[in-house]
Amino acid sequence: MIHIDTCHPLEKMKAWIESEKAMGSDNPNRVVLATSSQDIPRSRIVAIREITGEGIVFFTQRETRKARDLSINPRVSMTLWLAQQQRQVVLEGYVKALTDEENLFYWRTIPREQQLRFTAYAPISSHAIPSPTTLSEKYRDLKSAFENRDIPMSDHYCGFHAIAISMCFYTLGSEEFSEVLHFEYCHGKWKQQLLSP
Ligand SMILES: Cc1cc2nc3c(=O)[nH]c(=O)nc-3n(C[C@H](O)[C@H](O)[C@H](O)COP(=O)(O)O)c2cc1C
Repeated sequence: MIHIDTCHPLEKMKAWIESEKAMGSDNPNRVVLATSSQDIPRSRIVAIREITGEGIVFFTQRETRKARDLSINPRVSMTLWLAQQQRQVVLEGYVKALTDEENLFYWRTIPREQQLRFTAYAPISSHAIPSPTTLSEKYRDLKSAFENRDIPMSDHYCGFHAIAISMCFYTLGSEEFSEVLHFEYCHGKWKQQLLSP
């Protein structure tokens, strides 16, 4: 018998991620983010930085294709795959770019090593580099330049809040039917429906 709970879908997503961790997955906090501007859709993995009451916060670099796509078309789809549980969550919605103040808030919460790495690679993200040492040399120079000093937020650091308008939770059944629970945000409320798989 299928049990339908009535929790908030973003809370449900958090609970599924927690279960995945409890089942031994090191870092299930990653989603495939699909964007589309004028031409073909594009997808890639991003790390979930935070799950809020409205959606998902993630970070990237200003010059990336995803950031460019999102400046043209803010609509997104995100897919979370939880291998241990054979579950998927698909979120559809639109992004809001974080403000400079919000970016700075998150920047200050990431470890120093990560700030240095980001500062080293972000300005040339997805560009051809002459050798693997290009970035490590840049990292080393930055490390000594900022010794004993706070690392200022990189101009390339930018976050987005993907606001969910629909979410679909799929649990693959092995010997029984798969369970599909669909949530839609309508007039300020989440409506849920059980779908045939
Ligand atoms: C495990 C993993 C996590 C990643 N997390 C991020 C992330 O949080 N933000 C990001 O911009 N790219 C992240 N990437 C790299 C992207 O998947 C992508 O290759 C890169 O951002 C360029 O994407 P774009 O050119 O389509 O914008 C991650 C890659 C992997 C494999």
